[in-house]
Amino acid sequence: MEASFLAVSTIWLLMIIAATTATYDAEINNRRNLLANGLGSKPPMGWNSWNHFSCMIDEKMIRETADALVSTGLAKLGYEYVNIDDCWAEISRDEKGYLVPKKSTFPSGMKALADYVHRKGLKLGIYSDAGYFTCSKQMPGSLGHEEQDAKTFASWGIDYLKYDNCNNGGSKPLVRYPVMTQALMNAGRPIFFSLCEWGDMHPATWGYKIGNSWRTTNDISDNWDSMVSRADQNEVYAEYARPGGWNDPDMLEIGNGGMTKDEYIVHFSLWAISKAPLLIGCDVRNTTKDIMDIIANKEAIAINQDKLGIQAKKVRMEGDWEVWAGPLSKYRVAVVILNRGAWRTAITAHWDDVGIPVGSTVVARDVWEHKTLKTRFVGNLTATIDPHACKLYVLKPVS
Ligand code: GLA
Repeated sequence: MEASFLAVSTIWLLMIIAATTATYDAEINNRRNLLANGLGSKPPMGWNSWNHFSCMIDEKMIRETADALVSTGLAKLGYEYVNIDDCWAEISRDEKGYLVPKKSTFPSGMKALADYVHRKGLKLGIYSDAGYFTCSKQMPGSLGHEEQDAKTFASWGIDYLKYDNCNNGGSKPLVRYPVMTQALMNAGRPIFFSLCEWGDMHPATWGYKIGNSWRTTNDISDNWDSMVSRADQNEVYAEYARPGGWNDPDMLEIGNGGMTKDEYIVHFSLWAISKAPLLIGCDVRNTTKDIMDIIANKEAIAINQDKLGIQAKKVRMEGDWEVWAGPLSKYRVAVVILNRGAWRTAITAHWDDVGIPVGSTVVARDVWEHKTLKTRFVGNLTATIDPHACKLYVLKPVS
């Protein structure tokens, strides 16, 4: 008697679990492609205030950043979004429920700032949160105000919305984020929609229908371990990235001082090959030549912006030695050879790992040396790599 009761209860339990899982899958699969804004055919490029300035932002600094993007030549290379992160608004909405730019730091308001940025040929991004307050708790989130806020952003001329996940009352991202997607679609202005859900509920598997990019990780910090671990976590979802919707391992730390030049080159190489958003996170008004050489590397940017839009994967890993590779247009392949260890070492990329026919002869372009190597490579390419450093190649089979 007891045994059969146990068996029946177990079957019931299994059925309930199966039904719940099926409902969740259906919830994802049946969701219409809500977002049809035509944006994000390439990974977005620009700048964001958070990594360097945190809450210490104001309109003067934003204007100066827009000026600097133009005067340094970064704008010409494709860095077009000037993105204001958390802390731009007053703690309370006005009597009609509208968000109010903080009077002490953004006295001219966002419309004037957007006009300024647009006159420079750039685009303005803003930040909100799918919760009652943003992560800093210094301004309201948009939960329950999605339509109103999306219309407000559109009326200001905003071009990009980063949408965070703090203080949300415990409801699921899949409930909260699509409401803003729909609101943006109703707002009458194409606004790039960047989901900042930190990878909690595997947004790579559903983000494409809702946003133009989705964070796959928690926040990056300006150090080697944090940076490479973000790249690792993001790599798992490579199959899900495509034109219109990108995996986002968080913004760049290059230029903030916590890593060596080689480590920052690894950072940029991995972000480029992973088709990650290239959002500069340093003070572009004061950059050194070393930093400019990294973030302004045209050839690395071209890998990121390649029209195929295919995210690279780790194709071989032996302890601290790694090879990452991904196809590019014109039958080329981008390859990162990475030494994560503490000793200088020789690492080999094999054609059958990187996706080149085994018998092919290959011409290799070294993206950081800006040199096409004289050697023609057959079957593989070996490079000697310093600790915490990498090589980034574009390989082209010639026979
Ligand atoms: C979260 C986000 C960060 C940044 C901060 C702002 O932590 O993941 O990128 O926007 O909030 O408070």
